Amino acid sequence: MSGPAGRRRYPLPRWIAHRGGGGLAPENTLAGFRLAARLGFRAAEFDVMLTRDGVPVLMHDETLARTTGAAGAVADLDWADLARLDAGARFHKSWAGEAIPRLDAVLALCADLGLGLNVEIKPATGHEARTGEVVAALVAARWPAGLPLLVSSFCETALAAAQEAVPGQARALLFETVPADWAERLARLGCLALHARAADLDGPTVAAVSAAGVPVAAYTVNSAAEADRCFALGVSALFTDRLDGLGPV
Ligand code: G3P
Ligand code: MG
Repeated sequence: MSGPAGRRRYPLPRWIAHRGGGGLAPENTLAGFRLAARLGFRAAEFDVMLTRDGVPVLMHDETLARTTGAAGAVADLDWADLARLDAGARFHKSWAGEAIPRLDAVLALCADLGLGLNVEIKPATGHEARTGEVVAALVAARWPAGLPLLVSSFCETALAAAQEAVPGQARALLFETVPADWAERLARLGCLALHARAADLDGPTVAAVSAAGVPVAAYTVNSAAEADRCFALGVSALFTDRLDGLGPV
């Protein structure tokens, strides 16, 4: 995994579509991945949470209201309940009928599309370890060897469980602001990369992380000026919502 200067190679391309289709499609839906691939993106990020009956589905928020208009929380409902919901119409009526996808369906679609993946484990409160374990194991079982993959989370309990389940899987630790003890935290969790909020990244921070041989990726970058600033700092990859104006298009 180490490059010539001891730096670990970042496993994904420089541009990563955020939440599937970024700002052009309802977040965390199959339609978003299809659009990202059509626009030339070679990698996408998405968020995964467990239903009450343990099915990993794509969802950012613990509650369903913002993206589906339904009441309740993902962790309090079964897959059969979520499967009936519309995850597209609240984004725009033209996307009505778009469903909440299961992780297994997303892995199959993205493998077909040839998209590299950043699977962000987004556990509901109280379900951290189980979510990490289930997501890591399903990805290991279903994602084809040789296609780019990185599993990440803000939640260290989830990442520790993912590490226990699939020790050799590529992992990244997510931060908003990079803390002073970032190196110890990454080492403890066997993480090969660090993901951080772009607005909080500065030259000394990226230099310190890079000097330790750890690649940095930054979220969420939606202007060319911010992208240029991040790449000039030495950031390896950017997450963007601007699939129409940024990235490999
Ligand atoms: O994984 C990068 C980014 O997605 C983290 O923020 O809140 O959009 O999941 P969020
Ligand atoms: Mg995310």
